[in-house]
Amino acid sequence: MDISLSQGSAILPSVSLNKSVMPDSLAVKIENLSISYKINVESKKTLKNALMRASRGERVRTKTVEAVKNLTLDIPHGSVLGIVGANGAGKSTLMRSIAGILPPTQGRIGVNGKISTLLALGVGFNKALSGRDNIILGGLASGLSRDEIESQTDAIAEFADLPEGFIDMPVRTYSSGMYSRVAFSVAVNMTPDILLLDEALSAGDAAFKEKSFNKMRQLCEEARTILIVSHALSSINELCDHAIWLHRGQMLASGKPGEITEKYLKFLNVGELPSSYEDL
Ligand SMILES: Nc1ncnc2c1ncn2[C@@H]1O[C@H](COP(=O)(O)OP(=O)(O)O)[C@@H](O)[C@H]1O
Ligand SMILES: [Mg+2]
Repeated sequence: MDISLSQGSAILPSVSLNKSVMPDSLAVKIENLSISYKINVESKKTLKNALMRASRGERVRTKTVEAVKNLTLDIPHGSVLGIVGANGAGKSTLMRSIAGILPPTQGRIGVNGKISTLLALGVGFNKALSGRDNIILGGLASGLSRDEIESQTDAIAEFADLPEGFIDMPVRTYSSGMYSRVAFSVAVNMTPDILLLDEALSAGDAAFKEKSFNKMRQLCEEARTILIVSHALSSINELCDHAIWLHRGQMLASGKPGEITEKYLKFLNVGELPSSYEDL
């Protein structure tokens, strides 16, 4: 798992933005957020081509992709927000920007609290290190102190439920199922204020899925702020208290999970966008 910035890089704002006022009741405040990627549109990216172009004094042709467009959203503390949308809708881009991995091209993101993430294309484990060492690194990355982490390492390893001895083996020896179990276990057990899960509810086999779902339900009840990107619409309905639908970078709908997933499902089945939305 890498941060997938290889095809393009985020475009940084040209002016520094003023810090906005962030009320204590909010976990995340998103104001007029836009995120664009700049992609090179060369058919073949070879050194030879690059040199030829340079010798002719040509510049690399680039294209801009607007992954998130002018999004404004307040997420109160303790809310569980579901995010649905088709592939390429901008869900992962939004999650990465809230996690602080991707800076906004325009607008602002304010975050109040400690974030823990499990992102589809997020920061991965160091494959040369053992599962246990990666748990410690994950904890440090989430802002926990060494003592806090050490007191939790065993519980996290146990939750991941790996075959005997694997927790002290290098992560590169893990199956993808084992990898995602440890990743899930780290993310949910770091007791974050804000938990970001990008398509993470489907890790592992049926038994682990049930265990992770129960853990999710427990976290939701503990009034933590959780953002869930998932194609499992029934999980969104069951876990979340609010949902939004992203479509081509824009928020098409925001409301009760049941209503949003129903609208989205209708769109998936018959390709019908909500009537309130005429701008596509
Ligand atoms: N690193 C990147 N470089 C260039 N374009 C990207 C990058 N990551 C995502 N995109 C583009 O941004 C848009 C939104 O992608 P993404 O946030 O991954 O959507 P989702 O998670 O909803 O499937 C898509 O058009 C995608 O191709
Ligand atoms: Mg995604």
